[in-house]
Amino acid sequence: MLSDRSRPVVEATLPVVADHVEEIARRFYAGLFTAHPELLDGVFNRGNQAQGSQQVALAGSVAVFASALVQTPEQVPERLLSRIAHKHASLGVTPAQYEVVHEHLFRAIGEVLGDAVTPEVAAAWDEVYWLMAYALVNQERGLYSARGVRPETVWREWEVAERVQETADVVTFRVRRVDDRLVKTSLPGQYVTVRVPMPDGVRQPRQYSLTRADDGEHRQFSVKRVHGGDAPDGEVSTHLCDRVRVGDRLTLSLPFGDVVLDDSGRPVVFASAGIGITPMAGMLSHLAVAGSHLPITLLHADVDEESFALREQVLADVRRLPGATVHTWYERGAHGTLPVDSVHAGVMDLDDVDLPEGAAYLLCGPLPFMRAVRSALLDRGVPACDVQYEVFGPDLWQADAQTEPSPGAVPAGAG
Ligand SMILES: Cc1cc2nc3c(=O)[nH]c(=O)nc-3n(C[C@H](O)[C@H](O)[C@H](O)COP(=O)(O)OP(=O)(O)OC[C@H]3O[C@@H](n4cnc5c(N)ncnc54)[C@H](O)[C@@H]3O)c2cc1C
Ligand code: HEM
Repeated sequence: MLSDRSRPVVEATLPVVADHVEEIARRFYAGLFTAHPELLDGVFNRGNQAQGSQQVALAGSVAVFASALVQTPEQVPERLLSRIAHKHASLGVTPAQYEVVHEHLFRAIGEVLGDAVTPEVAAAWDEVYWLMAYALVNQERGLYSARGVRPETVWREWEVAERVQETADVVTFRVRRVDDRLVKTSLPGQYVTVRVPMPDGVRQPRQYSLTRADDGEHRQFSVKRVHGGDAPDGEVSTHLCDRVRVGDRLTLSLPFGDVVLDDSGRPVVFASAGIGITPMAGMLSHLAVAGSHLPITLLHADVDEESFALREQVLADVRRLPGATVHTWYERGAHGTLPVDSVHAGVMDLDDVDLPEGAAYLLCGPLPFMRAVRSALLDRGVPACDVQYEVFGPDLWQADAQTEPSPGAVPAGAG
């Protein structure tokens, strides 16, 4: 909790920090990478750096955390912290690096806000930073120690055992262990960071959801090629889809991620769009292996049936689950040959289907899709705490920390 001395100072300066957060973030990264170029090799994602707005995630979260400390001092923003801690752990972030980030973040704040940063203001924001840093370091320490690793040893080599072209743009990789060490189990819905050496020699990390339950030998994930349009094509997804073949080696982190199936025995509703099917496929696979009898509803939106990645695996798992139903929405019309419970034309509309009472909801897909589904659910009286969502990028939405705008129609499905 913030001290009584710092709270009014943080409250008074929050608007000015929030107003300048983009400039602070830009200067922070510039200073950090000049002093520590090694952080660009295998730690930070240069695709996110290139998209200027996404740089805001780290500095912006400090502002979100500060406003939570001021507005609801008795409540820690658990989901915000846990998402960051899992992401950090999947990249092997170390406690010592918090000093480095502190130095460059506070230098950037000083440069941008100038004289407004009196010693009193600096001390109050220092307190915010270290409250957040210690909370993260503690969570990350717990995540590493639960898996018996250190930050440096989250990585492991695997060999590509199978490669399946799921759709025109999605490839599934099934990798096999190459040593005789135990394969640590994942929780349903978790992801790994895949760290790939790029042609210029720099390693680039990206997260991919696991799409199949553990079998002690393999991991499986599915990658959608990112077309850049006017911007460059996605570098890691294109490399994986175009270049990586059976027999090649890949470096994966241990599985992390906090958007996981709970075991409360409640009905579960999955709502996905496009490549957002991947964590759902992983969770359905876990449920099928466990012989679950839970009422499960899968709602999936896509361009058309041919674009529905992992459809055969997903439907085979659904057939093994006596309480499961599947409903699809296709932008190109209600055509399809898959054995599903209903097919609809257009974008996902929750009014088309009956939803179970008291369910846990898991969403994954493009942000506009998740915003609209979440708003529609909240409008129906579903408590916000029953709706979890996975963002395939830095979480700039932070719906759990904000009031949502009023709902609109659920926009196009493919992500
Ligand atoms: C928890 C989590 C789980 C995920 N699970 C999956 C999954 O299961 N399957 C999956 O396919 N993906 C998943 N992702 C997304 C994945 O991690 C990558 O973000 C995705 O593959 C794109 O990476 P890339 O290297 O191909 O694109 P990048 O090279 O990182 O590019 C990303 C975007 O930035 C744009 N860009 C790049 N350079 C510039 C520039 N100079 N100017 C302007 N724009 C630029 C690109 O056009 C592109 O739109 C997940 C992400 C997270 C965080
Ligand atoms: C209190 C300090 C810190 C805060 C508040 C913070 C916050 C964040 C946030 C909000 C994200 C985005 C998470 C998401 O939604 O995916 C993130 C990602 C990340 N953080 Fe931190 N972080 C801190 C310290 C550090 C440190 C010490 C390092 C180590 C160098 C680090 C490295 C990273 C990396 C590499 C990512 C992923 C970036 C990307 O994929 O573009 N962070 N952090």
